[in-house]
Amino acid sequence: MAKQEQWTSKLGFILAAAGSAIGLGAIWKLPYVAGTSGGGAFFLIFLLFTILIGAPLLLAELTIGRSTQKEAISAYRALAPSSYWHNIGRIGVATSFLLLSFYSVVGGWIVIYFFRSITGSLTGLSHEEYGNLFGSIIANPYIAIFAHLVFMFITVFVVQGGIQKGIERSSKYMMPALFILFIILVIRSLTLDGALEGVLFFLQPDFSELSSETILFAMGQSFFALSLGVSIMVTYSSYLSKNESLPRSVVSIVGLSIFISLLAGLAIFPAVFAFGFEPAEGPGLIFVVLPAVFSQMAFGSLFLTLFLALLLFATLTSAFSLLEIIVASLTKNDPSKRSKMAWRSGILIFLLGIPSALSFGVLSEFTIFDRAFFDLADYLVSNILLPLGALLIAIFVGWRVPRNVLLEEVTQASSIGRRTFAVWLLLIRYLAPVAIIIVFLNVVGII
Ligand code: PHE
Repeated sequence: MAKQEQWTSKLGFILAAAGSAIGLGAIWKLPYVAGTSGGGAFFLIFLLFTILIGAPLLLAELTIGRSTQKEAISAYRALAPSSYWHNIGRIGVATSFLLLSFYSVVGGWIVIYFFRSITGSLTGLSHEEYGNLFGSIIANPYIAIFAHLVFMFITVFVVQGGIQKGIERSSKYMMPALFILFIILVIRSLTLDGALEGVLFFLQPDFSELSSETILFAMGQSFFALSLGVSIMVTYSSYLSKNESLPRSVVSIVGLSIFISLLAGLAIFPAVFAFGFEPAEGPGLIFVVLPAVFSQMAFGSLFLTLFLALLLFATLTSAFSLLEIIVASLTKNDPSKRSKMAWRSGILIFLLGIPSALSFGVLSEFTIFDRAFFDLADYLVSNILLPLGALLIAIFVGWRVPRNVLLEEVTQASSIGRRTFAVWLLLIRYLAPVAIIIVFLNVVGII
């Protein structure tokens, strides 16, 4: 077999992996779930999960990919031939399918807001009107489906052409620009009258609000925001050269992800309280609050358009990674099938996403297990499938992959000593699986 294509530089890998990680998870989902789950306690537990379980798991996924240099399903096969372990890769592909179906719906909302901001129809509204606007836009079935279609179309178009590399390279400029704009936004939000209440809501833990569901959501959020549990990071690191340090990559990706989550919370919650919005607004939170913050800024409408363009970019880079893993597993890296498989999967994902797109309008009353379709898909992915994938990956790496393979991958080109390696292995072998299982059992009421 031909030697697998490699990233031209370490930066290429970091940009792609960080591009996958940073997206709606940190910017849209974190504030909305924190808002509905009590704020500070949620954020603190999310941080603990991210550092103690998410980061070690990210390293685990990277070791699988780089040691085998294969895409997800084949990577598990190579490390554990004639076993069932490769099904972890299959679960990841199936999860990515469902995840992308509702991710694209939210991506569509950004597309709508972006176009509205260009035409100027997002400026000069009262706070209340911003609240109503979002609800009325997404309740319209034609707009919601069309926007979802546009988002999926862009995703397939880029992935089928194999042109993500170019996009990843442009993320070298787009991502820092997004961070800078966020920092400006945070400053504006923090200087609003009454901002402090929002800061306290977001950062001051109030454990009386804590429930087993909050812990489950915080865990799900930590996996979602790092793109863990679906083996995307396995696939990406399979292109990584042996001269790079995996732990260092983990620190960069996790650090960036936590930083943007913090910025998102600090941009949103001070404004929520200053403007008298509801923190438990739900999935529309950022769409209601951020335009209102921009409207209080000099050149606000220009900044809003720029912000939406950058947010759309960050969202797309995550969507590419989701479609990429699906296409890679369907084509087994045979380039002649790439385009066909990308379009086919894209169409199926679009169809699967339609009920989610309609969940805020015509299908809002249609519930399964008490949840509208969008919520159900999100709940299944974030709180069940991603943690399940993560659990299996932790068990696989901790108990099945030979220790010397792990030792080599983790210490290769890095200053990590045996002691740190041993701590990591303990976290993967014991803490990650035990914590995930306890959170699951706690939610179903067994413990
Ligand atoms: N991490 C992405 C985000 O935060 C979402 C994602 C999850 C992408 C899982 C791939 C896999 O937007």
